[in-house]
Amino acid sequence: MPVTSREVHLIARPVGEPEPTDFSLVETALPDPGDGQILVRNDWLSVDPYMRGRMNDVKSYVPPFRLGAPMDGGAVGTVIASNAANVPVGATVLHFRGWRDHAVLDASAAQVVDTAIAPARTYLGALGMVGLTAYAGLKEVAPVKEGDVVFVSGAAGAVGIVAARVARHLGAVRVIGSAGGPEKARRVVEEFGYDAAIDYRAGDLGGQLAAAAPDGIDVYFDNVGGDHLQAALDALNTFGRVALCGAISQYNATEPVPGPTNLFLAVGKRLTLRGFIVGDHQHLAAEYARLAASWLRDGTLRTQETIVDGLDNAVDAFLGLLRGANTGKMLIRLGDT
Ligand SMILES: NC(=O)c1ccc[n+]([C@@H]2O[C@H](COP(=O)([O-])OP(=O)(O)OC[C@H]3O[C@@H](n4cnc5c(N)ncnc54)[C@H](OP(=O)(O)O)[C@@H]3O)[C@@H](O)[C@H]2O)c1
Repeated sequence: MPVTSREVHLIARPVGEPEPTDFSLVETALPDPGDGQILVRNDWLSVDPYMRGRMNDVKSYVPPFRLGAPMDGGAVGTVIASNAANVPVGATVLHFRGWRDHAVLDASAAQVVDTAIAPARTYLGALGMVGLTAYAGLKEVAPVKEGDVVFVSGAAGAVGIVAARVARHLGAVRVIGSAGGPEKARRVVEEFGYDAAIDYRAGDLGGQLAAAAPDGIDVYFDNVGGDHLQAALDALNTFGRVALCGAISQYNATEPVPGPTNLFLAVGKRLTLRGFIVGDHQHLAAEYARLAASWLRDGTLRTQETIVDGLDNAVDAFLGLLRGANTGKMLIRLGDT
């Protein structure tokens, strides 16, 4: 019996901050699953900052979204019909046909997840790509050593919350996080395991960082770019390391953004600045999954999500993510899971 799916299409390429009119909710009749395929009812959808980049028609590490076609992204759902022996009806699967409520896909493109370890939605956050990003950044890209002082921007976000736990695991003695607003700054310290927080919206980022790290920082995990990278370059100690993970302060920029004016400090301080994409670090996935499962079990890694209900509100959730409406992983819940 064919199923009708509702899916979010990109219908115009945003200039600056995306507008709700750049998107459209479209109904599509799905084919029955063919050989080796499954039909999935999505229960949770992920919205992520990198999706903003895919809305531009530019060459990047991931192709742009096509206009007038469904967007994709991370999702977890329940298999409701299967023509694949290894993925039975009822299984919970992680896959990439997000931004819609149902999907037909090859079973080989879906990963069955173990909901005994953590609720299904956790595989879109701390147990998934998000968590691995924090781990890869601090383990390999800007390796944290015993005794390091670590600074993380976007500290109350999905990656940032995991980064604090990872930094500690790798031996950091002090972990400083920056976030927008006093409430997030409070939670960064009281709930997410940071030693000190900076509210970047309160101004004087450099002064706040110097006060939080009087002996400088050894590692900077950059989710934000711009003023945060500038402040970190000032604060970094000799042979410091920077993991360039994201630059969310620039994703809606309509003009070229000037680089940090103090990049020359990298020479005298012998700094290493390295960009990375989590997909290049899959070899760490099993190791990270084991660690994350144990941290979730012993309570030293807290999952934190901001949940928005319904596909009709998916675009609002994405727009909110870019403005800081989330604490922890921004998720869309479909149905009453
Ligand atoms: N390299 C990779 O492979 C990879 C993989 C995943 C994610 N990322 C990057 O990692 C970063 C975090 O991603 P996430 O999924 O964990 O998102 P997130 O941090 O959960 O959500 C985005 C956060 O960005 C902050 N923000 C927005 N505008 C800002 C600005 N102008 N200045 C400072 N902060 C701003 C907001 O928090 P506040 O309220 O604190 O401002 C917002 O909550 C993003 O840059 C993303 O692109 C990279």
